Amino acid sequence: MNAAHRPVLLQEAVDALAVQADGIYMDGTFGRGGHSREILARLGPSGRLLALDRDPEAHAAARELAGGDARVSVYRAAFSMLERIATEAGVSGRVNGVLLDIGVSSAQLDDARRGFSFTQKGPLDMRMDPDAGESAASWLTRAPEHDIASVIHEYGEERHARRIAKAIVAARETAPLADTSQLAEIVSRAVPRHDRHKHPATRTFQAIRIFINRELDELSACLEQCLRVLVPAGRLAVISFHSLEDRMVKRFIRDHARMPEPDPKAPWLAPEGSPVLRAVGKAVHAGEAEVAENPRSRSAVLRVAEKLP
Ligand SMILES: C[S@@+](CC[C@H](N)C(=O)[O-])C[C@H]1O[C@@H](n2cnc3c(N)ncnc32)[C@H](O)[C@@H]1O
Repeated sequence: MNAAHRPVLLQEAVDALAVQADGIYMDGTFGRGGHSREILARLGPSGRLLALDRDPEAHAAARELAGGDARVSVYRAAFSMLERIATEAGVSGRVNGVLLDIGVSSAQLDDARRGFSFTQKGPLDMRMDPDAGESAASWLTRAPEHDIASVIHEYGEERHARRIAKAIVAARETAPLADTSQLAEIVSRAVPRHDRHKHPATRTFQAIRIFINRELDELSACLEQCLRVLVPAGRLAVISFHSLEDRMVKRFIRDHARMPEPDPKAPWLAPEGSPVLRAVGKAVHAGEAEVAENPRSRSAVLRVAEKLP
């Protein structure tokens, strides 16, 4: 496997799923199948793997794998469709493990034609599924300045969001925003002081990508669905690369791992229900050796939960 397709926290994430030989597993983010292959290596002949990805090239890679392995079913779909896919496959409520390794893949980042990279010139697209939704160029051409500023501020946690949005709006009045280098240049000129270790457009590109792909909505929808798709004692393992996503996963597990709050209108009544999840261990980060080999693993955080009976 070449460096561009190196899966992050591979053993840790697949160990966390506690794979049973005859179990049913769902990989919501196939990518190039690093984690899926490891799950398959631990599954016996009657095990099943349902692999999803909304990216056409990832889906093609998944189909190739499925072509030679009857245990695998592949879907070109967003992971917010997880429950529907599980239901149609007749496995909802029986899934032993769901893995999400969210964000963009190295294959997507490194391909200039996809428009994710500020270091390579390419069309300003940024869609994981180029057949759905609006491209970054189209959105940046029509969005009001305050919307652009709030996306960059919220999803990029960028201090200079307002300046950057202003510069984008000024630039689009003279020429249409078409490519990644042009956007990177506009942002670099708008940001006052540069951090030597980080390209000035890093946060802006990340923010626009998260917005264009509705990444936080996708994650929130999928986490909720996992509660129904998993069998009791089934495991959920999520690797995230961004603090906003990790916070969402952490809160989701915490909120479902404690007793429901009493009804504020009837606080004297014992709350109904019981915790539905148990957090398994603490957040896991890539070790020094993995970070040295694969710098992209530096920001990865793995969180694991188990569904309670
Ligand atoms: C970090 S990569 C996964 C790498 C994979 N685990 C491997 O070992 O090759 C993330 C993948 O998830 C996909 N993806 C991200 N968000 C998605 C979503 N909401 N629904 C479906 N696929 C998604 C991307 O297209 C990308 O291929």
